Amino acid sequence: ASGSHVPALIIGSGYGGSVAALRLAQAGIDVHIIEMGQAWDTPGSDGKIFANTKSPDVRSFWLRTKTKQPVSSFLGFPIDKDVPKYTGILDAEDFSGITVYQGRGVGGGSLVNGGMAVTPPRARFGGVLPSVDANEMYDTYYPRARAGLGVTDIDQSWWETADCYKYARVGRKHAQRSNFDHVFVSNVYDFDYMKAEQAGTVPKSALDAEVIYGNNAGKKSLQKTYLPAAKATNRVAISPLHKVTSVTPRAAGGYTISIEQLNTAGDVVATKTVSADRVFFAAGSVGTSKLLVKLKATGALPNLNNEVGKGWGDNGNVMCGRANHMWDPTGSVQSSIPTTGIDNWAAGGAFAEVAPLPTGIETYASLYLSITNTPNRAEFSYNASTGGVDLSWQKAWKQTSIDMAKTIFNKINSKEGTIYRTDLFGGTKQWQDGLTYHPLGGAVLNKATDNYGRLHGYSGLYVMDGSLIPGNTSVNPFVTITALAERNIENIITTGL
Ligand code: FDA
Repeated sequence: ASGSHVPALIIGSGYGGSVAALRLAQAGIDVHIIEMGQAWDTPGSDGKIFANTKSPDVRSFWLRTKTKQPVSSFLGFPIDKDVPKYTGILDAEDFSGITVYQGRGVGGGSLVNGGMAVTPPRARFGGVLPSVDANEMYDTYYPRARAGLGVTDIDQSWWETADCYKYARVGRKHAQRSNFDHVFVSNVYDFDYMKAEQAGTVPKSALDAEVIYGNNAGKKSLQKTYLPAAKATNRVAISPLHKVTSVTPRAAGGYTISIEQLNTAGDVVATKTVSADRVFFAAGSVGTSKLLVKLKATGALPNLNNEVGKGWGDNGNVMCGRANHMWDPTGSVQSSIPTTGIDNWAAGGAFAEVAPLPTGIETYASLYLSITNTPNRAEFSYNASTGGVDLSWQKAWKQTSIDMAKTIFNKINSKEGTIYRTDLFGGTKQWQDGLTYHPLGGAVLNKATDNYGRLHGYSGLYVMDGSLIPGNTSVNPFVTITALAERNIENIITTGL
């Protein structure tokens, strides 16, 4: 309620926010999480909480009037459609030159992501978080994060025969014939549940194309792991459909936080002001960066340093599809949960996820999301004329990522005698070079904050999310975000808040 005071306020309920909530509560500190998205705990008129990727509906997108699907056309036909404006689950947030996809709701990105739970190979860690001791991450915090997230590995003998991973086996065959490293990657999906889906004994989720608009079963999102553990302490409250708009020091100590309450059309139905001794920014790379840049520029938090807003990267994301020969079908039923990748990081700067294209029909397509070692970094800045925050990303920067991904796919195409698909991303584009799923940076560790996420310039303000990571993790990011949050919150609690 307006006017109330809390010891610890957390902005956002994704990975960083959920870790902070659990560990603060276990240390005896009462926590209130403010989350701008919905709770996602109530079924719609179809009896399901989440929409299917085969038929996106009002629940799918955050305050858009037209869907913006990452694979935007099929056989050359645009597949996006008009939808009513609604506080849906997937935000396709447009900046100049790039659309940043993010989860909205209690659980953040864990609601919409593919569950790929990848720990970067240790040799690459120095390039990911140069100021962090790798030994303590690999000995303590990565294992702690994997346990907290419920990370598991697929039964490879089942994978070898499952119809729903035919596309992945085709991906492996093509990778190996071109002498690339093919790797299995961990996931938070319950693979026993997936076996039951294939056996037809439970409602289908991964095997019915559910993923980027939520999974109605099977996936261990934060709603199944950190968040119930946090709530079980009886010290954690969550307010969904509440958006933080300002944080400023108050004379009596601590901070004043301004909050807008939203309805499901996105209208502001109330504004509230609360106070907190400590504030944890966990609004995601974009959410935290936008808040900090605006609060510094508008004088609410003028002492933040000049590193705020800098060091933002897209994890080098680019997508492409390959057109297979008729003798390499990828299957009409494809598990929406990826399990494998092609690792050409050391030689070519690319790690490609073998992705599903679960349309329900045979497509003869292999789809890939590549993570690449691009050096390009953008900066957020406050725009006084619009009152918004801009990002200095340039679309042409994706060419570096395309070139790195081509070290894999040009070679495979020439070996297999195949070509890139041109019917998936609008027009005749071979590359989806206008998006990222993996925003990282904007409040970089040991630059905008100390080496544990304490913001410079203020005491009692912390950053807990992907904005701490300087633009690239060389693999999918959420295990690293979670492990870093575990490391930082432990230090913050044990050395005094
Ligand atoms: P996260 O974005 O999770 O949480 C931030 C939360 O803060 C959100 O819930 C948001 O609504 C809220 N918020 C923002 N501003 C606010 C404000 N002002 N007030 C209140 N609340 C606010 N990664 C991976 O490792 N493996 C994978 O398979 C995938 N797949 C994937 C697919 C898709 C479609 C997407 C979009 C993303 C992925 N990812 C992924 C990326 C992964 O989901 C992402 O890196 C993490 O969710 C980021 O975690 P954070 O804690 O940084 O923020």
